[in-house]
Amino acid sequence: MLVVQDVGKKYGDFTALHNINLQFGNGIFGLLAPNGAGKTTLIKMLVTLISPTTGDIFYQGQPIKMLGQSYREQVGYLPQHFGYYKHSTPKQYLSYLAALEGMDKQTVASRIDEVLDMVALSDVKNKKMRKFSGGMIQRVGIAQALLSDPKIIVLDEPTAGLDPKERARFRHMLSELARNRIIIISTHIVSDIESIANEIIMIKNNVISYKDSVTNICATLSGKVFETTMTYEDFIEFRKSYVTLAEKQEQGKMIVRFVADEIAESFWKSVEPQLEDVFLVEYAHENTSGGNK
Ligand SMILES: Nc1ncnc2c1ncn2[C@@H]1O[C@H](COP(=O)(O)OP(=O)(O)OP(=O)(O)O)[C@@H](O)[C@H]1O
Ligand SMILES: [Mg+2]
Repeated sequence: MLVVQDVGKKYGDFTALHNINLQFGNGIFGLLAPNGAGKTTLIKMLVTLISPTTGDIFYQGQPIKMLGQSYREQVGYLPQHFGYYKHSTPKQYLSYLAALEGMDKQTVASRIDEVLDMVALSDVKNKKMRKFSGGMIQRVGIAQALLSDPKIIVLDEPTAGLDPKERARFRHMLSELARNRIIIISTHIVSDIESIANEIIMIKNNVISYKDSVTNICATLSGKVFETTMTYEDFIEFRKSYVTLAEKQEQGKMIVRFVADEIAESFWKSVEPQLEDVFLVEYAHENTSGGNK
């Protein structure tokens, strides 16, 4: 069990996170929030790259700052901006990391083959990474996070650059791994985590605004999400009064998905709330550049 207790983080006078309390058991946790909300800040504290300004993080009851290296050995981490050596091959790169980590030489080669197979890079393992696509590089990053078979896997925006097929493979792989591991993934892409996360954590205004299952989070909008059809002119007026979630054009008319406290027109069709709806409502009034400076 990994426990975040009363954790806050300031950068100088700027408060990035305030009084965060979280518990992680085995399973997949999706840290879902827009740009600048503090996802990377929380993740860097979980992997001991930065220290909390207040509060503490505990693993198996011990503060991680005391556990030091013995904690870090249990953690696999994919940074948001991950550095690699473009003139080396995935195999060379992972061998180098394994040597740095002091992994057992007898087992390293087969483990490297295993993790490269998990991310479907076996056939290019001896090719220089210079020619790799963004998605392939990202998969090398995921492979290095899995290398030491860590008990805690922390991935900061792991699906950036992956195509839909790679995303599907990635979700499947995580579900398999999560049976006896803690997996924490940050993203602002709802579909990456809604089908696999046991819990979704949302951060807003420096604090945790949701920590619950997808079902329970969606239930907060139960009976409040509707769809209706209107002309474009009506839509311009309509969106001044309602939070609209999605629009699509069909045969010259617009189908609009929106939130309302209660049904106001008999022709509105009540629809099942999705996680994306909650996300849009939660962050409806934030500017898209993120941050709160
Ligand atoms: N080293 C730093 N010094 C000062 N401010 C920082 C520092 N790192 C992050 N911040 C600020 O803290 C806030 C949270 O940043 P953080 O990188 O944790 O957000 P994020 O949710 O990971 O965003 P993104 O989705 O863009 O990766 C932002 O307003 C950011 O500008
Ligand atoms: Mg980030």
